[in-house]
Amino acid sequence: METQNHWDNIFKNVEYTNQGWYEKEFSQTLKFLEKIENFENKDIFVSGVGISEIADLLAKRVGKTILNDISPQALETLKNRIEEKNVEFFEYDVSKTFQKKCDVWFDRAVLHFLLSEEEKNIYFENLKNSLSKGGYVLFSEFAKQDVNYCANLPLEHYSVEKFSSLLGDDFKLIDNEVFEYTMPWEDTRLYLYVLFKRIS
Ligand SMILES: C[S@@+](CC[C@H](N)C(=O)[O-])C[C@H]1O[C@@H](n2cnc3c(N)ncnc32)[C@H](O)[C@@H]1O
Repeated sequence: METQNHWDNIFKNVEYTNQGWYEKEFSQTLKFLEKIENFENKDIFVSGVGISEIADLLAKRVGKTILNDISPQALETLKNRIEEKNVEFFEYDVSKTFQKKCDVWFDRAVLHFLLSEEEKNIYFENLKNSLSKGGYVLFSEFAKQDVNYCANLPLEHYSVEKFSSLLGDDFKLIDNEVFEYTMPWEDTRLYLYVLFKRIS
């Protein structure tokens, strides 16, 4: 409830283009998603989508798009914006148990807020129970020890090695890159993009 209120307040009070993770275009994410063969037809689960316009873009594909967030306020904004029929809005805490069948799992700047071992274990169990064999997971989380907070919340930094260990032997690394993101007020943050394929 505390986490939900925190994010709801942000989405109620902070202008979209002033949010510290706002993107006006999505070429970095698309560069990775387009490495997935036949991506247009895949069913994608988007963890903690917020009110990002990547949601609108993904909804226009053939495959189903599951838009998740803990914040009802964020999902309400998306529901008013997105009319495509192959979209499911899923208000839920990704650190609690669920299963949503998908071929692609995408998370930008959500996982890094899960700090306890229990939350992370459940998150990765959810991912493994949801993602099809041959499916892909794309993460984009804070990469370096330079900043320890985002949206006034503490966060964890990620490396390729950490992702490999959390995902285990069923996943093969396809590509990775550290990307310098420029915030609305011109500060920069380093996001690690990693794409894995589920091989068994
Ligand atoms: C930093 S924002 C990133 C939003 C979006 N992914 C983007 O890249 O623009 C973090 C998002 O994760 C959501 N969130 C935070 N904790 C969550 C949780 N436990 N389960 C689901 N969503 C969560 C927040 O409501 C917010 O929309």
